Amino acid sequence: MTDIFSAVDSYIEGLFAKEDEALSAAVADMKAAQIPQISVSPVLGRLLFVLAKAVRARRILEIGTLGGYSAIWLGRALPEDGRMLSLEIDPRHAAIARGNLARAGLQDKVEVREGVALDILPRLIASGEPPFDFIFIDADKEPYLDYFELSLQLSKAGTMIVADNVIRHGAVIDPSRAEVPAVAGVKRLSDALATHPAVDATIIQTVGVKSHDGLVLAVVRETR
Ligand code: SAH
Ligand code: DHB
Ligand code: MG
Repeated sequence: MTDIFSAVDSYIEGLFAKEDEALSAAVADMKAAQIPQISVSPVLGRLLFVLAKAVRARRILEIGTLGGYSAIWLGRALPEDGRMLSLEIDPRHAAIARGNLARAGLQDKVEVREGVALDILPRLIASGEPPFDFIFIDADKEPYLDYFELSLQLSKAGTMIVADNVIRHGAVIDPSRAEVPAVAGVKRLSDALATHPAVDATIIQTVGVKSHDGLVLAVVRETR
């Protein structure tokens, strides 16, 4: 990414998204454990926090925990009696996340549940899980549209559903990369959201320390 975008990202971070001890220790732990360094950036973590506050989220669902970095930002947006559930397929990632969340004092608010998201989500729906106010989709990219449709069944009017990595350095507008499974997966979601009767949606293109990507934001309509 060009220097000016990284420099401005650092400027925004300095103003709004400085990492405290718990967040920097989480980053250090993830590096030490050599798990993928694909957490959201500080500035995007802050964006998730502000969006969760905007909908006054009391119940948050995350699909794809990794080391718990985005979960710390989102968990901090919850009120005292708020709760968050984060789904993670890899037991190593889940263990690191639980440690990082505990260090942030969020162990009683944020539950990391191990398993395959496409198994857990239908079980939550079948067991009558109450709706979530904010849902962050950030796991494997191929089933993004399935994650969204299942998320809708765990939503109510006004629920905000956000999915990460829907621009992928602009790969989504490159015909030669249309068949790459991750690219096809995120495009399928964005295409569906453009005309989906249940939501009002748009994409925010993002640049900065994590280079060029984007978040798709969808708000569930009153009538669907
Ligand atoms: N939200 C995190 C980053 C998540 S990276 C953050 O910004 O801090 C994506 C995570 O999704 C990885 O930890 C990966 O193991 C997990 N994942 C991949 N496929 C999954 C699946 N089918 N079910 C649940 N989790 C999955
Ligand atoms: C990848 C996944 C992510 O969730 C992300 O934010 C960046 C990269 C990946 O699978 O490459
Ligand atoms: Mg991501």
